[in-house]
Amino acid sequence: MKVKLRIKRFNPQKDRKPYWQEFEVEAEKTDRVLDALHQIRWYQDGTLGFRRSCAHGICGSDAMLINGKNRLACKALFADLGDYVTVEPLRGLPVLKDLIVDMEPFFAAYRAVKPYLINNDQPPLKERLQSPEERARFDDTTKCILCAACTTSCPSFWVNRDYLGPAAIVNAHRFIFDSRDQAAEERLDILASRDGVWRCRTIFNCTDACPRGIQVTKAIEEVKRAIMYAKV
Ligand code: SF4
Ligand code: FES
Repeated sequence: MKVKLRIKRFNPQKDRKPYWQEFEVEAEKTDRVLDALHQIRWYQDGTLGFRRSCAHGICGSDAMLINGKNRLACKALFADLGDYVTVEPLRGLPVLKDLIVDMEPFFAAYRAVKPYLINNDQPPLKERLQSPEERARFDDTTKCILCAACTTSCPSFWVNRDYLGPAAIVNAHRFIFDSRDQAAEERLDILASRDGVWRCRTIFNCTDACPRGIQVTKAIEEVKRAIMYAKV
């Protein structure tokens, strides 16, 4: 089948403003948007800018706005999208070129919540043990691949770029509720700040956008409750 891609293009080094460009490619229904982007870059226009690495939904590098919804291009099938597809860069982050956005503000928010295990006790000989129930407490939020689909689908983030955003909260949740970690209070203090969890208006865009099926809004609510009731 022939599919048409309408792509929002912008090269800040030479364009005054973004513009739309259409490309037609031959594709199977089982092909992904990423396959079509490759066709375009390899055979029609080598200047088209987009990121990708694994091409299998693992690395999180090719999140973009496809038919108005944040998705991974490597998981978006034409069978689901039809033969006319719009592709835009993620919203709320500066566009570096075409579909490539500057992820640095996103990763700065991620780093701000200390997304790593903190435990100052002497490490045991083998490993820090934890029960299956304790492990299950944060299982959902371990699945994050840092694609930014959640944060950049959030209207609260669009209007306030200092909001740490859903992805940072998800990655804080992963350690706050880990029985082996000792820095939950520190993280909860960070998330209780002006640009933390209270910016969330429970809009659920983040949950809809997450390609890993993480219950992002639920995780945010659990962090809010932990702040209010000191329940970790
Ligand atoms: S929570 Fe989901 S949407 Fe957000 S960064 Fe992680 S994988 Fe991507
Ligand atoms: S290219 Fe790695 S998730 Fe799509």
